[in-house]
Amino acid sequence: MSYFLGVDIGTSGTKTILVDSTGKILAEASESYPLHHPKPLWSEQDPEDWWQATVKTIRAVVKKSKRKPAEVKAIGLSGQMHGSVFLDKNNNVVRRALLWNDQRTAAECAEIEKRAGGRSKLIGMVANPALTGFTAPKILWLRNNEPKNFEKTRKVLLPKDDVRRRLTGEFATEVSDASGMLLLDVKKRDWSKPLLSKLELDSELFAKCYESEEVTGNLTTDAAQMLGLTTDCVVVGGAGDCAANAVGTGVVKSGILSTSIGTSGVMFVHSDNVEIDPQGRLHTFCHAVRGKWHMMGVSLTAGGALQWFTEQLCAELAKGKADPYDVLTREAAAVAAGSEGLFFLPYLAGERTPHADPDARGCFVGLTLKHTRGHLARSIMEGVTYAMRDSLAIIEEMGVPVRQVRASGGGAKSSLWRQLQADLFGKKVVTLKAEQGPAFGVALLAMVGAGEFKNIEEACAANIELASETVVDRKAKRLYDAGFSVYQSLYHSLKADFKRISSLG
Ligand code: XUL
Repeated sequence: MSYFLGVDIGTSGTKTILVDSTGKILAEASESYPLHHPKPLWSEQDPEDWWQATVKTIRAVVKKSKRKPAEVKAIGLSGQMHGSVFLDKNNNVVRRALLWNDQRTAAECAEIEKRAGGRSKLIGMVANPALTGFTAPKILWLRNNEPKNFEKTRKVLLPKDDVRRRLTGEFATEVSDASGMLLLDVKKRDWSKPLLSKLELDSELFAKCYESEEVTGNLTTDAAQMLGLTTDCVVVGGAGDCAANAVGTGVVKSGILSTSIGTSGVMFVHSDNVEIDPQGRLHTFCHAVRGKWHMMGVSLTAGGALQWFTEQLCAELAKGKADPYDVLTREAAAVAAGSEGLFFLPYLAGERTPHADPDARGCFVGLTLKHTRGHLARSIMEGVTYAMRDSLAIIEEMGVPVRQVRASGGGAKSSLWRQLQADLFGKKVVTLKAEQGPAFGVALLAMVGAGEFKNIEEACAANIELASETVVDRKAKRLYDAGFSVYQSLYHSLKADFKRISSLG
């Protein structure tokens, strides 16, 4: 028998699964780590934490599954996108990594646009505008603000690719994650030499770019020993967590949209061609499917908003026997659709799609004395789903067909959140039997890399099965259609004040 590992290095933790060649999940393990916010809207993590979590979870699943280590043939890596791991000449980390939801780089985004010769020239080179979360602005931030650290930097790697370096000794990345660095010619699927030169960045700083199912190296002797595996085990390219999740939910052809509610919220559609939103609100990146692309919209705080509410305002729930999220979801489900006039804007870390506004802030609007904790929880879930509908509206405006919505992440586990997605998006929402979206997606890529399947489309067709279906409640849909128009106008009413609030510090 052959076995495959899927590792997803997320923001709240790392999740690892071991699957057999029929796609059956034999064991899973996760490990969490801290997120650091040294200043408002700064977001950092320590790459050492990702490595330790990877080692622990791989060892745990191999042990739990009781399978022979020599039969673990390949590893697929997925991870939070856009993070910047800065390494010196000895491969030591120069400073903590800046993450996808860090908002400190507004000035560098403006610098990139200027150096590129304007926004449309930039979009022409890398298919996307400069956004604060992307990696290139983080590199320029280091150069502008911590020049000594920049001087020391010899390589800039994405989170999962730093873990790969420690597994294989190779500096390698793959097209889906590399797209989010804002330095990849997304059409040609390789680094954009013209942009690197305009930004005065040495191409030696970056890893070699592979397709997602390609083998990027074997485990080193040290890594194999540490993990209890063999050096015959290969590591394939893998994918950024959004593309990995899409593969894990079978979004490898047109007409299907995947939604993922984790720390962030992602709306993802497959595309056979490079399609670009002229206003740059949606991202156009390479897909983890060879020769294909995708578009996606990202809400920076989705499940993260409910997590913030639970931890900061409902801390007493953690002392009870029941899971705090179950308690809050039950209370939220008892409240009428629309939360009796309470709205929540989930911009706790600024917002990416569609506003690209680091100054946006989270808020409850419409509070009355009647509102309970259940109303607050429900309005958070509704607000996050409205934010994702903003992305769906752009996808539909571009004429991209959406016949089915596949929900994944924490938001798919809650029947209330599935119903909210069906009612707010006005589409049937399905879930899948294997719920481990990104980890499962890269385990499938590992199978392709190891030769179990001809390509990723074949691997998905053989391994992905639907589990549940949630249909639209027409009455709730009408109410949410009206609510969406209020939700959309709230940002515009508050935009100037957000800027003033942000300038107050
Ligand atoms: C995608 C993005 C987030 C992170 C979260 O563009 O920024 O979804 O990948 O893990």
